[in-house]
Amino acid sequence: MLMGRRKVKVLGVMMMVNFFIFILVEVSRNSGQDKGGNSKVRVPTKPFWKKLVASEAYWNREQQKLDFIHNPILMTENGSVFPVPVWLNSTSHSSANFCHPDPSVTTQVKDYNSLPDRFKDFLLYMKCRSYPMAVDQPHTCTGKPYLLLAIKSLAPHFDRRQAIRESWGRAGRLANRTVATVFLLGNATAVDHFPDLSQMLRYESGMHRDILQWDYRDSFFNLTVKEVLFLDWFDRRCPGASFIFKGDDDVFVNTYRILDFLAGLSPAKAKDLFLKYFIPESMFVGKYPPYAGGGGFLYSGDLALRLHRVSQQVTLYPIDDVYTGMCLQKLGLVPEKHKGFRTFDIEEKYRNNPCAYKSLILVHSRTPQDMIKIWNWLKDPSLSCQ
Ligand SMILES: *[C@@H]1O[C@H](CO)[C@@H](O)[C@H](O)[C@H]1NC(C)=O
Ligand SMILES: *[C@@H]1O[C@H](CO)[C@@H](O)[C@H](O)[C@H]1NC(C)=O
Ligand SMILES: *[C@@H]1O[C@H](CO)[C@@H](O)[C@H](O)[C@H]1NC(C)=O
Ligand SMILES: *[C@@H]1O[C@H](CO)[C@@H](O)[C@H](O)[C@H]1NC(C)=O
Ligand SMILES: *[C@@H]1O[C@H](CO)[C@@H](O)[C@H](O)[C@H]1NC(C)=O
Repeated sequence: MLMGRRKVKVLGVMMMVNFFIFILVEVSRNSGQDKGGNSKVRVPTKPFWKKLVASEAYWNREQQKLDFIHNPILMTENGSVFPVPVWLNSTSHSSANFCHPDPSVTTQVKDYNSLPDRFKDFLLYMKCRSYPMAVDQPHTCTGKPYLLLAIKSLAPHFDRRQAIRESWGRAGRLANRTVATVFLLGNATAVDHFPDLSQMLRYESGMHRDILQWDYRDSFFNLTVKEVLFLDWFDRRCPGASFIFKGDDDVFVNTYRILDFLAGLSPAKAKDLFLKYFIPESMFVGKYPPYAGGGGFLYSGDLALRLHRVSQQVTLYPIDDVYTGMCLQKLGLVPEKHKGFRTFDIEEKYRNNPCAYKSLILVHSRTPQDMIKIWNWLKDPSLSCQ
């Protein structure tokens, strides 16, 4: 997907307040001008500013708090401009980076006790967005890469990472551009019955210098944590990169095609993709914003820096793609679909046809062996396709 610049309507207290002030200004100016005129000033008789009511769902309430705290009109340096309703008063570490299990969720989420463990776990740590780095690469971006490939991986996926290094993710010069690669890892912990891989990772990281690892439990519901930790790293270590491709370690990416595409960047057709995941209603109600689902997405370094900033105003959500969609929405952007992204693969009969990959950007999913095979096809200068 491509992050487009299409504006979306963002309805929020802030806009309503802007509107309110705008009306007041307009009203007073008009009434000054219209002495004796015939145009009627329409002043609303009833309040048209909807009262902020606490949502039934926990996530939404936490987001209401964040929206409130970050609303520059309602919150001044001396505190709120009106008495804060009790439910909005965020004494329970809502803006802080609270990294202990938060016991208040057990009472604040109606059916907490009957939720599956992964939800309980997510909720307990929902306010923690910063974990210590176990492995960093401070020098990855010293050469200001044109394209940074940031690949979500899991500690035991040694073969996938190696195949990516030997194929589409090889760092260095490609088509006269600098490409840098990092793999994003949490910790494969004993809680999840992973064997201790830390020594092997240390070896791998020393050898390739492309592993970023944070010390938190790498699980599906913690992928959003990986997202915000990456944005934070990017902001500190790589703000000069022009573009980022962020994807999974089981996709094949035609890096040539990405560079080619970026070189001749043209507006792509927008399309909202909607994939449905189950999330209990006690946790979240509402519609998902448009988001880029599955496989990977391409965005600019400039946008990454803006995402980093705005992510501090968005409550962590268990699905990382949706979370990124929420951050984009706050920025007034929607992801754009590009036909080169084949999240649902290409037709079986074309899968062994080298030319089928030439115009693609991404195919999901591919084994490490496939990645090497396809890359060998693509880099062969004698490959000719009409
Ligand atoms: C905040 O309070 C201080 C001291 O009462 C006052 O001098 C200042 O003007 C106030 N600032 C705002 C933005 O209301
Ligand atoms: C929130 O509640 C605490 C304690 O009940 C109070 O001290 C604080 O002033 C309140 N904050 C706001 C913003 O009203
Ligand atoms: C490669 O890039 C450099 C600077 O980015 C440029 O000066 C040079 O002409 C390019 N070479 C080719 C073959 O495109
Ligand atoms: C990761 O988990 C393992 C096993 O649970 C543990 O020994 C290790 O200290 C953790 N941290 C890192 C950074 O590997
Ligand atoms: C996320 O990581 C934290 C820190 O390791 C862990 O305590 C928590 O259980 C994890 N959450 C999920 C949903 O796995």
